[in-house]
Amino acid sequence: MAILLPGGAGYIGSHTAVELLNKGEEIVIVDNFSNSKPEVLDKIKQITGKNFKFYELDCLDKQALEKVFKENNIEAVINFAGLKAVGESVKKPLEYYMNNIAGALTVLEVMKEYNCKKFIFSSSATVYGEPEKIPLTEDCKTGGTTNPYGTTKLFIEKILQDLYKSDNEWDICILRYFNPVGSHESGLIGEEPQGIPNNLMPYIVRVASGQLRELSVFGNDYNTPDGTGVRDYIHVVDLARGHLKALKKIEKEGKGLYIYNLGTGNGYSVLDMVRAFEKATGKKVPYKIAPRREGDIATCYADCTKANKELGWRAEKTLEDMCKDSWNYIARNVK
Ligand code: NAD
Ligand code: UFG
Repeated sequence: MAILLPGGAGYIGSHTAVELLNKGEEIVIVDNFSNSKPEVLDKIKQITGKNFKFYELDCLDKQALEKVFKENNIEAVINFAGLKAVGESVKKPLEYYMNNIAGALTVLEVMKEYNCKKFIFSSSATVYGEPEKIPLTEDCKTGGTTNPYGTTKLFIEKILQDLYKSDNEWDICILRYFNPVGSHESGLIGEEPQGIPNNLMPYIVRVASGQLRELSVFGNDYNTPDGTGVRDYIHVVDLARGHLKALKKIEKEGKGLYIYNLGTGNGYSVLDMVRAFEKATGKKVPYKIAPRREGDIATCYADCTKANKELGWRAEKTLEDMCKDSWNYIARNVK
């Protein structure tokens, strides 16, 4: 019995693959490398000392996916495959809707064909839109997404709810990630956005390494303690471990549709992050205050009580770990 990881060569998928292999699970990764590199697969093997099967395929290719199910005994799927750049999604809505939604639908169709009905989905805090309250609980209203990327997450959540309603033999777990940062302590795998990064931590590390001149802090007039945006940054290894707990939940209890926030429950501002990074790494991060970025909200952090109670999971790594490990990966891998 194996766990299938579509998009498992990516940032969060590769870290989850490591945790699954370390726990003795059999995995199969499929990926089209649209936002990752084949070398990651060797790094996962190097870290864990374990082997696994890999298929290079696009999740929209139903026949290729059917071959994977034919050749392996897949018991559950953790679907990481998706395009995730918010700004790009505004420019290329059709690509985002096609890749993310049709990709997920194709995976689900093939699962149904092979009577595999355990599915974990990478959703995002973005589905809450403008937060109804802070901290966000899973029952807060969703909707009001401001870009096609966020809307794909919202639509897929809806599709999963309808699917479960139609057939409650499915075991579905929707994980709403907050802001994943950091990398595996080995420094062998991590996040490597192509081009100029959009997200805060990848931008900070590139400023610290001298590849970019300075950080633009998008707005200092929000209604937050220091005026800059507040988010719930979570170490990717903690996040990866959340998937193992989710898997255990649907394997043991089964028959349900569960939704969990995966964050730390702490909110840090942009300037908190700059200061924490400088302290943890000894590197300087020059910054300037810039205008607000369109579509940004002031504050977003999670109430993680539900995941804590029902999954027995909580984030354990500190802000210092997040900063050190983010830096460690870039320092080792980017010339
Ligand atoms: P990533 O881009 O590093 O990983 C996604 C992987 O999916 C990549 O390896 C890519 O090549 C692959 N992929 C994309 N479309 C595919 C397709 N059609 N067929 C096969 N492979 C395909 O992204 P990540 O940060 O690891 O995110 C994983 C998931 O979590 C995504 O669905 C993302 O939207 C979601 N998520 C990410 C964040 C974040 O900040 N990183 C936050 C919330 C949710
Ligand atoms: N920020 C800057 N300068 C930068 C980049 C970001 O000041 O160069 C600020 C933003 O304005 C925001 C904070 O840093 O206040 C975090 O921004 P990110 O882009 O890192 O993260 P977001 O919270 O905007 O969005 C991320 C992902 C989304 C996901 C969301 C919730 O990019 O895909 O978290 O999970 F939906």
